[in-house]
Amino acid sequence: MEFKDKRILITGATGGIAYEIAKILSKEGCKLALFARREEKLKEISEELTNDNTQCIYKKCDVSNREDVIAAVNYMIKEFKGIDIAILTAGVLIPNPIQTFDSSIIKKSMEINFMGIVYFIEQILPVMKKQRNGMIAAISTLPDKRGVPGWGAYGASKAAVSWLMESLRAEAKQRYNISMVTIKPGSVETPMIKDYHRVGAVPASRAAEIIVKGLKKEKKVIQFPLSQVLLVRIQDLLPPSAYDLIPVELAKGEGYPEVKEE
Ligand SMILES: NC(=O)c1ccc[n+]([C@@H]2O[C@H](COP(=O)([O-])OP(=O)(O)OC[C@H]3O[C@@H](n4cnc5c(N)ncnc54)[C@H](OP(=O)(O)O)[C@@H]3O)[C@@H](O)[C@H]2O)c1
Repeated sequence: MEFKDKRILITGATGGIAYEIAKILSKEGCKLALFARREEKLKEISEELTNDNTQCIYKKCDVSNREDVIAAVNYMIKEFKGIDIAILTAGVLIPNPIQTFDSSIIKKSMEINFMGIVYFIEQILPVMKKQRNGMIAAISTLPDKRGVPGWGAYGASKAAVSWLMESLRAEAKQRYNISMVTIKPGSVETPMIKDYHRVGAVPASRAAEIIVKGLKKEKKVIQFPLSQVLLVRIQDLLPPSAYDLIPVELAKGEGYPEVKEE
């Protein structure tokens, strides 16, 4: 798929991975609509990426707020008259230690990481159905099948994204010619994981290259890097009794916050 002149919506555009994706796309002559909560940063990025071939628009949008999402999609339709590709990457990573199990962390993770994608799909699908064309890519995570100690809120929200995308994929394609792509990155060096040491994390620019290449090839699932894909898939095969032998602190990873018992 050629990206030139494509109208591309990006959420979480101020973030590590999405900013790098937008940077690549700005060199290909696209029309970019950038959304996130930090307006000043969006303005800065938008000015940086605008060039003779690439037009950028932006709007402040909290993806967990349905009204914001409706306004964001309406703004893009008004400016660009359609949406060819949506890359939904906005997300947060919040530890939820068992010592202070707290439903508000799970709610927040679901509202941003999962409902933030649901609200966009709800607004974008009618546009793409009418066009009889389009691609919606949503970001999950590589370990989306097994629970990870301390990261249940994040993992649950990402597993929900993977499930939803897979459930929609065949029907969206067969009925409306819309491609649904699930992006499953392993560790990527971005502000999100700056406090956690992750061995083998790939630079955000490399992650963006892999993602853009995967979108161009119209892959259904984009997962990387290979070493982590293999490791996670081996873990997926372990029976629960063996999986539970993985030391909890190792599974949580370096940098996981120390928590005192209440
Ligand atoms: N880094 C990794 O290792 C890794 C691995 C697997 C999956 N992922 C996923 O990849 C995506 C991008 O992450 P990243 O690593 O690039 O992290 P990042 O640098 O922290 O970027 C996250 C972006 O999401 C935006 N965001 C957060 N909450 C939002 C909200 N309520 N409404 C709108 N935008 C919101 C933030 O922008 P504002 O603050 O301006 O709103 C920020 O630009 C996330 O969904 C993450 O879960 C990352």
